[in-house]
Amino acid sequence: DWTPEHVLEDLLKEVRERVGQDRVLLAVSGGVDSSTLALLLARAGVDHLAVFVDHGLLRLGEREEVEGALRALGVNLRVVEAKERFLKALKGVEDPEAKRKIIGREFVEVFSQVAREEGPFRFLAQGTLYPDVIESAGGHGAAKIKSHHNVGGLPQDLKFELLEPFRLLFKDEVRELALLLGLPDPIRLRHPFPGPGLAVRVLGEVTEEKLSILRQADDIFISLLKEWGLYGQVAQALAVLTPVRSVGVAGDERKYGYVLALRAVTTEDFMTADWARLPLEFLDEVARRIPRRVPEIGRVVYDLTSKPPATIEWE
Ligand code: XMP
Repeated sequence: DWTPEHVLEDLLKEVRERVGQDRVLLAVSGGVDSSTLALLLARAGVDHLAVFVDHGLLRLGEREEVEGALRALGVNLRVVEAKERFLKALKGVEDPEAKRKIIGREFVEVFSQVAREEGPFRFLAQGTLYPDVIESAGGHGAAKIKSHHNVGGLPQDLKFELLEPFRLLFKDEVRELALLLGLPDPIRLRHPFPGPGLAVRVLGEVTEEKLSILRQADDIFISLLKEWGLYGQVAQALAVLTPVRSVGVAGDERKYGYVLALRAVTTEDFMTADWARLPLEFLDEVARRIPRRVPEIGRVVYDLTSKPPATIEWE
């Protein structure tokens, strides 16, 4: 029978047989797939190096959480601090696709450098899932509206054999494996988060200051969703910092603060999505708390657009 325990045993066996005494490199993003993959390699006892590139576009406490959890579970992890480099490359760039391309390019450069320093590695492990396999085989018919960035386009001198132990699994099955492998729930049950991170949620030019404002607001929204028991009821929730500033009052002063948009969606496959009917009392609490704690934000709005016509992200 096809229990998660059996799947795990099979995967451990497959990884051990295929890898043997060779070395495996992988990139971890903090998402459930790559984290579970790192845990699988650690549990299999194969020689591996997990590379976490901190591009400075992560959410509050995310890096520390992932770092702590993976190290505690025996993953050989190297965290690369690359914040300055990404911010510099993004300076003055407003176009969403241009931001994605720059982030993808910088990521490949940073990752390749680590691969050369720490190599050689025979294998590159990736957390590719069954739906990704179908999609890239063209079976899904999904037009690529945005250039989704993952590890790809590595330089010529870096050649690896791909190791994709999850290629026949769906997300739910990976979450079950993650449970068996001991991945803490906040990471295991985390909503998807785009590779370019908060860069596509700070609309327009990305600055350190705007990232910091968004990070605090996002943390309030997500923490309250968890407190209210609503986090698991939506497929994805996010905050977007718009470049729009609007007039408000603070005491008897006029204040000119940013407009922050909140978005939460329900969806099966992320190809279409509906906006989540979150309770008004909940939205009320979030909308009161954010401008109080993050004074740069003057107004909070909730996005009532489904996909299509909108996408889930705003950029
Ligand atoms: P959209 O905004 O296209 O998003 O409705 C669908 C899903 O994909 C995620 N997303 C991305 N993931 N790199 C990623 O790795 C990207 O550039 C990217 N853009 C969107 C989005 O968060 C949602 O889960």
